[in-house]
Amino acid sequence: MKNTVVCGLQWGDEGKGKIVDFLTESADVVVRAQGGSNAGHTVIANGKKYVLHLIPSGILWQDKLCVISNGVVLEPQALLNEMSYLADEGINITPEQLKISDRAHVVFDYHKSLDEAREIGLGDKKIGTTKRGIGPTYADKANRVGFRLADVTEDNFWTEMLPARIEAANKDLADVNLPLVDADSMIEQAKQAIEQLKPFIVDTIAILHEAKKAGKTFLFEGAQGSLLDIDFGTYPFLTSSSTTSGGVITGSGIGLGVVNRVVGVCKAYTTRVGEGPFGTEDADFSDYLHDLGREFGATTGRARRCGWLDLVLLRYACMVNGVSDLAVTNLDGLDAYSEIKVAVAYEIDGVEYTLPPAKRSSWNNIKPVYKTLKGWNVDTTACRTWEDLPAEAQTYLNFLGQEADAKISYVGIGPDRDQTIIIE
Ligand code: GDP
Ligand code: IMO
Ligand code: MG
Repeated sequence: MKNTVVCGLQWGDEGKGKIVDFLTESADVVVRAQGGSNAGHTVIANGKKYVLHLIPSGILWQDKLCVISNGVVLEPQALLNEMSYLADEGINITPEQLKISDRAHVVFDYHKSLDEAREIGLGDKKIGTTKRGIGPTYADKANRVGFRLADVTEDNFWTEMLPARIEAANKDLADVNLPLVDADSMIEQAKQAIEQLKPFIVDTIAILHEAKKAGKTFLFEGAQGSLLDIDFGTYPFLTSSSTTSGGVITGSGIGLGVVNRVVGVCKAYTTRVGEGPFGTEDADFSDYLHDLGREFGATTGRARRCGWLDLVLLRYACMVNGVSDLAVTNLDGLDAYSEIKVAVAYEIDGVEYTLPPAKRSSWNNIKPVYKTLKGWNVDTTACRTWEDLPAEAQTYLNFLGQEADAKISYVGIGPDRDQTIIIE
């Protein structure tokens, strides 16, 4: 296998976990390079369902090296909780299997409180974050007041550096009448959690480059989706990291030229969790999927908003990621529809757009220009080859690939590992 990046092409939850799990078989090293415990990646393996937040999905395979690299923001206790959840499932993680970057920024309790405070402050303009402290931690990083795992070994870290930051955070919390962080107990808990993680914390840049020299194959597991990217997403309704393929370079230190395949994952329709514009949202379609028990968030349990496939966004996402291969998941979600709408352009104030606009107010006036394709009205979940798929489904996928200008290499027709059609 080529060194591959797997990234989401929509607003997250495209099914990256399943595709990463599927591709891990042919990889040696699986890397998470951005985001934090806001991610929720579902993998169904050996009849069991796992939801991973910080740990690369490759951990479900015994013999893979998993790396949480410098671009990730890491909440120590959340990682310990995830490790103990996996241990309960019989997956015990050793420091040989999992390496955590000493340059990863730490999410402390005050980041989570500040996340909540910001959302309260925004009122009806709130972002609908996962409240995992992601935005405030990346903001501290950019403001140069954050702390990396390596920083906690400074002599005055626990006695001066951290208390000073907590004091500043408490002032912000007091402004919005939120409970203040109890510095002593927060420091004690964080100290204990980081101590437990100590054997896993290393210089991952050195490890990745050793692996590169040894000819190992890399798989980069993207979190979130392209429209949540801090540069390319629906600003300000997005997350605070570079979720597109370029984020892998700054988020891991692997350097340019190593990645030679970008697999973009999209659903056969569109979903979004949290606030923000969504041109092709459709309440009836949302109700239909929710009634089937589908499309509830893997991290927060929130019902995802659902709508039709948006080719304006998909085209753009394929461009900014440099997608070479598409993995289209959840095709089976459309099985019962006799007519399927697809947005091929937007009309905004009388002007037609084939790529998304930057101006935020434009997003509120989107009229999708729909093309209607014939549905297939057949259960596709048992299909295992391209030829097994009904002709209308093939037409739908071909149209999608043509518009996105990318090759469809995988089609998901169910959540299980084997419910993936590989297209040579
Ligand atoms: P991720 O965040 O991109 O990894 O995606 P999530 O795990 O949050 O959400 C994707 C959901 O779709 C999960 O419940 C998966 O088990 C499920 N899933 C993935 N691919 C398919 C598919 O092809 N068909 C069906 N029915 N479910 C799928
Ligand atoms: P995976 O990796 C879907 C959304 C939140 C919110 C916005 C900002 O499972 O695809 P944040 O907590 O990051 O500050 O929230 O981004 N969001 C996701 N939506 N899937 C995710 O991850 C998400 N991670 C963040 O709902 O709208
Ligand atoms: Mg998810």
